[in-house]
Amino acid sequence: MAFTKATWPRKLRSQEWFGGTGRDQIYHRGWMKNQGFPHDLFDGRPVIGIMNTWSELTPCNAHLNVLAESVKRGVYEAGGFPVEVPAFSASESGFRPTAMMFRNLAAMSVEEQIRGQPMDGCVLLVGCDKTTPSLLMAAASTDMPSIVVTGGPMLNGYYKGERVGSGTHLWRFSEAVKAGEMTAEEFSEAEASMSRSAGSCNTMGTASTMASMAEALGMALSGNAAIPAVDSRRRVMAQMSGRRIVDMVKDDLKPSDVLTKEAFENAIRTNAAIGGSTNAVIHLLAIAGRVGIDLTLEDWDRCGRDVPTIVNLMPSGKYLMEEFFYAGGLPVVIKRLGEAGLLHKDALTVSGETMWEQVKDVTNHDEDVIRPAEKALTQSGGIVVLKGNLAPKGAVLKPSASSAHLLTHRGRAVVFEDIDDYKAKINDEALDIDETCVMVMKNCGPKGYPGMAEVGNMGLPPKVLRKGITDMVRISDARMSGTAYGTVVLHTSPEAAAGGPLAVVQTGDFIELDVPNRRLHLDISDEELTRRLAAWQPKHEQYDSGYAWLHQQHVQGADTGADLDFLRGNRGKAVGRDSH
Ligand code: FES
Repeated sequence: MAFTKATWPRKLRSQEWFGGTGRDQIYHRGWMKNQGFPHDLFDGRPVIGIMNTWSELTPCNAHLNVLAESVKRGVYEAGGFPVEVPAFSASESGFRPTAMMFRNLAAMSVEEQIRGQPMDGCVLLVGCDKTTPSLLMAAASTDMPSIVVTGGPMLNGYYKGERVGSGTHLWRFSEAVKAGEMTAEEFSEAEASMSRSAGSCNTMGTASTMASMAEALGMALSGNAAIPAVDSRRRVMAQMSGRRIVDMVKDDLKPSDVLTKEAFENAIRTNAAIGGSTNAVIHLLAIAGRVGIDLTLEDWDRCGRDVPTIVNLMPSGKYLMEEFFYAGGLPVVIKRLGEAGLLHKDALTVSGETMWEQVKDVTNHDEDVIRPAEKALTQSGGIVVLKGNLAPKGAVLKPSASSAHLLTHRGRAVVFEDIDDYKAKINDEALDIDETCVMVMKNCGPKGYPGMAEVGNMGLPPKVLRKGITDMVRISDARMSGTAYGTVVLHTSPEAAAGGPLAVVQTGDFIELDVPNRRLHLDISDEELTRRLAAWQPKHEQYDSGYAWLHQQHVQGADTGADLDFLRGNRGKAVGRDSH
């Protein structure tokens, strides 16, 4: 099937700047010519903005300047005019207070870069966790023809002959040091082995998950997600995407043609099959909000419930992205979903073909990496959405990363008022806590932290770790790194800083977690809960200036994607209406 809804040639948006002999056009063209661009590049061919999140302080994206050159080759080959544009880049590993606070700022800034400048299509050059959703949100808001190219994952890490996964082993090793099973010297020796090549996290963390989501949504070419960053085929993918975006502009294939409800359902099921990050919940809700698709938390539970996790990658499983690529990558997983009747096969992709046309002929090369359904890591791999008096608007849990024996649990709450309170108390041997307790942390949600940091997988107290215990039930309004694991209830909504019931949990209360029945219950009377909520006062830090203020004033709850309220809705029609 070939998609087209426009005739070619036709006058493109960039010609408002570059076409003709008027004073304004000469002004715009003339300035561009100081870079040595020949006159015929301004003749009406598609101008492609390569929105590049390259930054040396976003190490996962530090090779994207090289990849951009391959995109440019492809754009030129197809008869387009590529222009590389630096985009806001928020590194998961280093941006404070948390990269998540800047996802919406990045989306807003890139949206305006697209809206306000002469381009007809975009290549979204992304990689690290927040860069992929933020640029997808921007593209969705402008509805400019766009294609995602991710930077690809790092090669496998090895330490003492054992696979070392980004993030996953950072958590594992740091707990081992606390438990006295690993020395600090060994930990620092392992450091370099975790990141041995260019690229994003090599586990099925949030970066790999969001690369997979982009592909499952149909916004990247088939096979994009898993190619390692340093594999020459990554550059081929970039070049092919450069070629493709030119034809997408000619065909007028826009994000709103691809990002349908069916596409989001395909992505949710794919996330379950790959054992993807809980962060995908928030990002997909936010992207859907930008195209006016009614996607809810309930859709996550409904669509993911019957999907087995078949991809055997850390943190849920054994292997890393390099092996996922060798096995055939995401197209194999999507094909499996199709064969199981769990795929909207007709969903359109940026290739112009349907999802099924893209994947129907692929082969699985390693049945231990991408397993048959009967050997799945877990039969119900979807993100679980919990509700109850502790989470009236929902909370999420990733069963494939949880301990089976804790999925039904009642325990005494040990409460930390915020991340600082947690850090001050957790190593105190006098803390009244054991493995049957439920650790509760407040004020780490979108408003509270602010930005909703990845601190939900609170490390266990040393005295519990020393018993050989590696998991406890933990509940917060925070997020968790996609590389992390544990029986961790996240995104509890409404968050504590917005006066949700989480804010009034007290140490000594009992909490019931009942995953099979999707229930999260604070075991106090309704009257007591009402009394506590009426007496509640906010305790989180409140900003009065700068972007942190804007964020706190306008950020919405995690249950709808934590976007800024004034950025939601389908606003794409504004592209091309503005002038200069
Ligand atoms: Fe950038 Fe994991 S920290 S991809």
